[in-house]
Amino acid sequence: MSVERALYGGQSASSDGPVRRVTVNDLAAAKERGERWPMITCYDALTAGLFDESGIPVLLVGDSAANVVYGYDSTLPVTVDELIPLARAVVRGSSRAMVVADLPFGSYQASTAQALETSARFMKEAGAHAVKLEGGARVLPQVEALTAAGIPVMAHLGLTPQSVHTMGGYRVQGRGEAGQVLLQDAKALQAAGAFAVVLELVPADLADMVTRSLAIPTVGIGAGATTDGQVLVWQDMAGLTPGKPPKFVKQYANLRSVLGDAVSTWASEVVAGTYPDAEHEYH
Ligand code: KIV
Repeated sequence: MSVERALYGGQSASSDGPVRRVTVNDLAAAKERGERWPMITCYDALTAGLFDESGIPVLLVGDSAANVVYGYDSTLPVTVDELIPLARAVVRGSSRAMVVADLPFGSYQASTAQALETSARFMKEAGAHAVKLEGGARVLPQVEALTAAGIPVMAHLGLTPQSVHTMGGYRVQGRGEAGQVLLQDAKALQAAGAFAVVLELVPADLADMVTRSLAIPTVGIGAGATTDGQVLVWQDMAGLTPGKPPKFVKQYANLRSVLGDAVSTWASEVVAGTYPDAEHEYH
């Protein structure tokens, strides 16, 4: 079954009726049917349209924009004001995917009131359909308050990059006894109202146990093959990010080479005076 047919319950939204967005109910139903689905990061209207046409049901405006859009060396510096225009562009560029906006570091931890205020901005100013936040027990009040206010919340456990300095680096989480804590956190987040939980950089067997223990979908990144969904940063999976990718990243293209070759060829033709040629000018 194709991605789009899976998430629309066997109905193709493009051919069988009016276009509509994927909802939390579709994701819950996919879990009940045992169907897996992809989520991909997205930061602009052009790629949003492309990923939407490809049938990707959930687009995440991740705070990874800090790295891949804004050039910071961690996700900590990026602000709500920097992410809202990206989320707005992704919503504008798509028509079927659910758009999830990441709440950046410092925009929700202080209180439930702060989390509500930030999330409301993403919903009102960007048109996001859900928000994502990082953490376990410490963010339960925020998850409860947001859910009660009608804002769908995607949780995020395991490696939570906003806590990189507490975790001592970007390393696998949940090994040994820490696995039980992560499982309890996942159950508590579900009870607090989260509609899904991202599991980042955790052992595959722990992710599998969490996935089987929860009624809500899990979305893995470096968490093995049995989570309900998988998420990757699009520039990583498409081979645009420079350097050696982490072990969990599979590169499905080499866009760095394709784009690099294209821009070098164009630059050479400009210098040589062979672009534009007759075919590309007006008379
Ligand atoms: O910001 C992000 O891109 C994320 C995903 C990697 C899960 O949080």
